[in-house]
Amino acid sequence: MRSARRAGRRTNVALLSLLSLALATGVLAFAVGTLPAATVVAVTHGALGVGLLVLIPWKSFIVRRAQRRRTNRPGRVAGTALGVLTVACVASGLLHALAGYRLYGPVTALQVHVGTALALIPFLVAHVAAHPQRPRRADLSRRVLLRTAGLGTASLAAYGAVEGVSSLLGLPGARRRGTGSAEVGSGTPELMPVTQWVSDPVPDLGGDHGLRIHGRNVRRAELDGTDELTAVLDCTGGWYAEQVWSGTRLNRLLDELPADASIDVVSVTGYRRRFPASDAAHLLLATRAGGALLSAGHGAPVRLVAPGRRGFWWVKWVAEVRVVDAPWWLQSPFPLQ
Ligand code: HEM
Ligand code: HEM
Repeated sequence: MRSARRAGRRTNVALLSLLSLALATGVLAFAVGTLPAATVVAVTHGALGVGLLVLIPWKSFIVRRAQRRRTNRPGRVAGTALGVLTVACVASGLLHALAGYRLYGPVTALQVHVGTALALIPFLVAHVAAHPQRPRRADLSRRVLLRTAGLGTASLAAYGAVEGVSSLLGLPGARRRGTGSAEVGSGTPELMPVTQWVSDPVPDLGGDHGLRIHGRNVRRAELDGTDELTAVLDCTGGWYAEQVWSGTRLNRLLDELPADASIDVVSVTGYRRRFPASDAAHLLLATRAGGALLSAGHGAPVRLVAPGRRGFWWVKWVAEVRVVDAPWWLQSPFPLQ
């Protein structure tokens, strides 16, 4: 019995480690936009997630044992809710990875995935608080390290099996980008989904409303057609598209900036992102995609194109570009709007 209990403790500690690391790498997957770093993050994240499935036989034993032992267990509700949300989270993650970007009624698999992942956090905290598992010196023993390596290998093998089946069956997910996003509407901007960060609305602007750049009023026509670049818009909603964007590079509109300055790009909706001054040469104030003027949903009259950064940096409906002294990293890592 004592050794069974110990085995249970190790399984629980392993579950805690996998869940915490899956949450951390999931958030990181949204932050990293450049390949191959994004691929490393997405594969690690996926392996941690399916690694939870590897532990199901051991955890089932713990749950059954707990059920036999007491009828009124502390934290039972949290444990059950944690189970339901974890299963939904892993299932929706796999659905996205296999079926690609799709709407199921009003939501995508990735929205359910991130929603359930965030929702499980309080239940995880409550469950662990009800059943604390103290670390022990023996946790650093060779045997435990070998078991950890075994779990890591099994998780990667399970991840590899999912990917293998997906490419054998030719599922849409097999063609996803290193970030995990599926291709939708490359070269055909009107096919790109219209997606906003959390609560940012599509404003009703009507035509060329003008914008302020570094204290000067600029109209869309002045930005039209100066520069062109091909870049991938990779949305954290789970899709990506490569387009030829045209407009004017930001460094043409700003004077020589001090190296420690930052650039605030603000939307008419109040949505904003801050960039280091060194990015000015790579950022484009775009008026067109694929040769056609931007549509309202995609940021007309002017949106930012930020190559190598995830979609939430590509501010739409730009109203103002401002040079500020504050460091660019002094902002919420993800938009709050
Ligand atoms: C307990 C928390 C989490 C678990 C257990 C989990 C698990 C998984 C699993 C099993 C997959 C499918 C992997 C594959 O086969 O490719 C996946 C994919 C994904 N997850 Fe999570 N996840 C969690 C949290 C998060 C969070 C918080 C985010 C973002 C904020 C996130 C973003 C993603 C993304 C973008 C993918 C797609 C990656 C790809 O297709 O390769 N996950 N997750
Ligand atoms: C995917 C994550 C997890 C799920 C779905 C889950 C679910 C459950 C369920 C349903 C039970 C039986 C009912 C109860 O006593 O609450 C249980 C028992 C238990 N859980 Fe978890 N759990 C998870 C992770 C963890 C973690 C991270 C820890 C601690 C670090 C932990 C510690 C325990 C302990 C010690 C018991 C046994 C209680 C007893 O024998 O009376 N669990 N778990």
